[in-house]
Amino acid sequence: GRLRRTFRWAWRITYLSAVGLVGYTCYIVYQDRHPEPQFEPDPTKKTLVILGTGWGSVALLKKLDTENYNVVVVSPRNYFLFTPLLPSCTTGTIEHRSIMEPVRTILRHKKAAVKFYEAEASSIDPDRKVIKIVDNSEIQGATSETEIPYDMLVIGVGAENATFGIPGVREHSCFLKEIGDAQQIRKKIMDCVETAAFKGQTSDEIDRLMHMVVVGGGPTGVEFAGELQDFFEEDIKKLVPEISPRFKVTLIEALPNVLPSFSKQLIDYTENTFREEKIDIKTKTMVKRVTDTTVEAEVSRPDGGKERVVIPYGLLVWATGNAVRPIVKDLITKIPAQKDSRRGLAVNEYLVVQGTRDIWAIGDCAVAGYAPTAQVASQEGNFLGRLFNNMAKTENHESRIQELSSKMNLQAGNSAEAAHEIESLEKQLRRIKDIKPFRYSHQGSLAYIGSEKAVADVSWWNGNLATGGSLTYLFWRSAYLSMCFSTRNRVLVILDWLKSKAFGRDVSRE
Ligand code: FAD
Ligand code: NAI
Repeated sequence: GRLRRTFRWAWRITYLSAVGLVGYTCYIVYQDRHPEPQFEPDPTKKTLVILGTGWGSVALLKKLDTENYNVVVVSPRNYFLFTPLLPSCTTGTIEHRSIMEPVRTILRHKKAAVKFYEAEASSIDPDRKVIKIVDNSEIQGATSETEIPYDMLVIGVGAENATFGIPGVREHSCFLKEIGDAQQIRKKIMDCVETAAFKGQTSDEIDRLMHMVVVGGGPTGVEFAGELQDFFEEDIKKLVPEISPRFKVTLIEALPNVLPSFSKQLIDYTENTFREEKIDIKTKTMVKRVTDTTVEAEVSRPDGGKERVVIPYGLLVWATGNAVRPIVKDLITKIPAQKDSRRGLAVNEYLVVQGTRDIWAIGDCAVAGYAPTAQVASQEGNFLGRLFNNMAKTENHESRIQELSSKMNLQAGNSAEAAHEIESLEKQLRRIKDIKPFRYSHQGSLAYIGSEKAVADVSWWNGNLATGGSLTYLFWRSAYLSMCFSTRNRVLVILDWLKSKAFGRDVSRE
């Protein structure tokens, strides 16, 4: 009897939790589909122009009370991209639209309307306080270039792919930064496989085509290599068995080890796991030249000598980190205080671009002393959101105090009430104005390394916890799921995971 009662209670609790969860999801979905009516921005307010729709800018927009400013967003991409799951899109574990969130949806949920222009900012004039924008999309109207004046400008344009001017890289390799890159890689993997399986293909060509080379052993290269090997083991091997023994993934890194920003123990764990997965790691190997079929690299030998090697490849993915975007380079040349900036716009502790007024920079294009990560960019965006909200409140309070003071001078009768309000406003002002400088709080680093294993360096109490394996992989999945932008993204990602597990990844080449 007792067991039955316990069982009945357990069942009730599970049932109620499930109903609660479904109810809550329905409520969120309903709210998402029926946002409150928006009011138009007040044209007398300051114009705040935000460049970019990436991690930094979107975190700022999320936090910002848009009714305090005329907000204008400019970006060539009309969506936010959840980059941590981008490597999973290269093999179809996750479909690309599951990790995109349209910026129009994000902006529709703000209290006051925000203008969005799908365009690239091509130059910034800090003296005239205007930016030039260009529509570089496929479809263009009669006007595709114009200027936007700003009172306040936030630059969150991210970074572009570093190639270090190495010949052939731009022409022959794929990058892994944007959705288009992931789609191109997905297509090319299958093209290599199908071409290798072509009737009468020569043996050398099969080896070359089935050789997938990844240059750069940072987190992007490592995660991609892991995803690729999974794709091969779980799907390609079963579907194209005749050529499968020739499939090979090689990861090339110039430094003595991969994942230089992770702790030593996790570097060893990753390298061992890769060895088990049969991913070939070539460290101390610096790529010097790329042709349409080969990579030429310089290997540092243990005796200190150097050796030149030529590696044939079918697919080449280039992941050697970030370089400064042209618009940022151009702005740097216009500001004398930035003459020594090489890696981006030097900012102060309030993220103001040094040597300018009313220009802030966040994320990968800003140099604030932190690594170029999504975590840093979103914390910076969040900080600016709070800062701008406070600045607007300060202005409102100050003008109200001024209004009350002049009223007090005119009508002596109401002065006690007004004095009381002034006192309370001044108290609030002191609190609002006391904004501490930006301080980054590191939550840890996570990376997927293939075969359902991940590595994590996470802050734990006052120390650091370094862990790797299958449990860490579950943690990786739940952490990224919780970080997804919206409930819609979360649901889609879960469905994609289930779908690829149940039916395998889709190997159609399109
Ligand atoms: P971005 O997110 O790159 O956004 C820049 C925005 O500016 C884009 O919308 C772009 O279209 C727009 N833009 C570009 N040029 C212009 C212009 N001229 N005018 C106007 N707009 C412009 N970090 C982590 O912390 N954890 C991870 O797990 C992680 N995984 C990653 C995986 C991959 C594959 C990659 C490539 C990066 C990953 N990162 C990760 C790093 C992270 O994505 C970046 O640090 C982060 O995107 C930086 O944010 P951002 O806002 O500066 O730039
Ligand atoms: P990265 O800068 O971290 O790594 C690039 C690697 O390429 C370096 O190790 C470098 O030594 C190597 N390299 C450079 N030139 C080379 C050459 N010619 N030949 C061979 N190797 C060469 O770049 P990545 O991985 O793109 O990351 C960029 C930023 O995004 C980093 O800050 C990273 O932390 C972050 N990121 C974080 C992720 C995570 O936390 N899971 C995932 C992806 C990126």
